[in-house]
Amino acid sequence: MKVLMMNGSRREEGCTYTALTMIGEALKEEGIDWEIVQLGKDSVNGNLNQLVETLKEKCQEADAFVFGSPVYYASPSGEIQLVLDRLFSCAGDQLRWKPAAVVTSARRAGTTSALEVLSKYPSFYEMPLVTSNYWTMVHGQSPEEVRKDEEGVAVMKVLGRNMAWILKSIEAGRKAGVKQPEKTLRPSTNFIR
Ligand SMILES: Cc1cc2nc3c(=O)[nH]c(=O)nc-3n(C[C@H](O)[C@H](O)[C@H](O)COP(=O)(O)O)c2cc1C
Repeated sequence: MKVLMMNGSRREEGCTYTALTMIGEALKEEGIDWEIVQLGKDSVNGNLNQLVETLKEKCQEADAFVFGSPVYYASPSGEIQLVLDRLFSCAGDQLRWKPAAVVTSARRAGTTSALEVLSKYPSFYEMPLVTSNYWTMVHGQSPEEVRKDEEGVAVMKVLGRNMAWILKSIEAGRKAGVKQPEKTLRPSTNFIR
């Protein structure tokens, strides 16, 4: 089993990365593989199409996802929103029904509004949202500061453990014959007709 994590920061080994690796450590303890893909630079330097193609392939193989972003002006980074807008609109069915978690990193404020935005993607695609024992945020401006955020570190570890539990439960259900739901088409109205 494998969890694909996406980091919306341009800083390759910054605060968001540090939080994601903490989730990864907890997953590893449960025998689950993980990978972090950096979205930051490639999404804005002309490589967006290639990045989305690469992610589509990785999404097919992944069993679950973590979408992580620094907070910019109380929102997720423009980079992760750009990628997720494209990825979900062209390949949402490759993520449908797979569990997902969202994570934000901030110096101080805007974490909950950014988490709210990130959670809109999985909740549109029937993805079970995996949670922790607090809202899934860390605080800091450097990896060192994030590691000192004792509560944030604990929340990331519990998130990783909960993700492992959900993945193992889904696999046990599949082995016991529980079938994935059929895709259901809903009416698409615009309030006028
Ligand atoms: C353009 C920009 C906007 C930011 N806006 C906020 C903000 O609204 N609230 C906040 O607490 N921190 C804000 N920050 C700080 C980052 O969210 C914080 O340092 C984060 O942990 C960096 O994560 P990273 O190292 O993964 O990029 C901002 C940083 C930048 C560069």
